[in-house]
Amino acid sequence: MSDRVLLVGATGFLGSFVARRLAVRGAAALVRTTSETSVLPERMELRRGDLNRSLPLDGISTLVYCASMGFGHVPPLVRDLERAGVTRAVFISTTAIFTGLPSASRAVRLEAESAVQSSALDWTILRPTMIYGTARDRNISRLLRLLRRWPVFPLCGNGLWQPIYVEDLADAVVAALDSPQTSRRVYNVAGAQPLVLADLVRTAAHAVGRNVSLIRVPLQAAVLGARLTRMVTPEQVRRLAEDKAFSYADATRDFGFEPRSFAEGVTREAEAIGLSPARRTV
Ligand SMILES: NC(=O)c1ccc[n+]([C@@H]2O[C@H](COP(=O)([O-])OP(=O)(O)OC[C@H]3O[C@@H](n4cnc5c(N)ncnc54)[C@H](OP(=O)(O)O)[C@@H]3O)[C@@H](O)[C@H]2O)c1
Repeated sequence: MSDRVLLVGATGFLGSFVARRLAVRGAAALVRTTSETSVLPERMELRRGDLNRSLPLDGISTLVYCASMGFGHVPPLVRDLERAGVTRAVFISTTAIFTGLPSASRAVRLEAESAVQSSALDWTILRPTMIYGTARDRNISRLLRLLRRWPVFPLCGNGLWQPIYVEDLADAVVAALDSPQTSRRVYNVAGAQPLVLADLVRTAAHAVGRNVSLIRVPLQAAVLGARLTRMVTPEQVRRLAEDKAFSYADATRDFGFEPRSFAEGVTREAEAIGLSPARRTV
């Protein structure tokens, strides 16, 4: 068996950053016929496959899994990996499994983590908080665009947030993969410090050169608004108010994880998508 890595989810938001780091080591990327492969490094080997079928594991010793663990693919995949003689695997889960709110995918994700943990693989699981950085994220890039247009932001709840910058997470994936101490361990990984939502919004506004006025909206009113407008779900609104702060001390100890602050990450993101005050034309 050669010492080759297969990266699953390589064309995703996080996966494309991990791909840049692993391509130089000769890793292969799992891609579907519909995948947008232009996000991958030019000379990276592409292996056609789909998580709904068995994967092309010939010559693969290590799997890095950056697709969702919430669709039921992981338990059968783990069995396939054991059968194919894959020995090492790093899986990206999520701190969303800690939510106290109803969640359709939580049970599937827990089952996936459990299948990994009870396998014979030399596994590591990383659980990131919300991931941001670049126009490809589905959260902070939208907030930055909104704050640039509207100097007023409705604040519903003021829970703690600790988003992780995508490059810090991609570095963590590779560091965890390389560190023998991470064998058969689970790590929460997050941004440098937790911020209350009001500070997160103010910091994001600062990154696009705006002062923002925050208008407090009672949680129940926001839930009702969500029901009426159907722009977001009531669960998404309730999740805004839930604390999402996590210690990453184990990750720092075992593989040197040292994430950047939200202020630094969001400033880089604003620059990258052309919204920083220095680059703005309006
Ligand atoms: N984004 C966040 O804020 C966040 C927060 C916490 C945890 N996470 C976790 O972090 C990981 C990466 O998230 P992400 O936002 O980077 O994901 P993403 O952008 O949605 O990427 C998903 C990847 O999975 C691939 N994929 C989906 N279904 C597949 C299938 N049937 N067969 C093969 N490949 C398939 C996609 O391929 P195609 O390109 O072909 O669609 C894509 O490469 C996930 O485990 C997610 O749960 C994300």
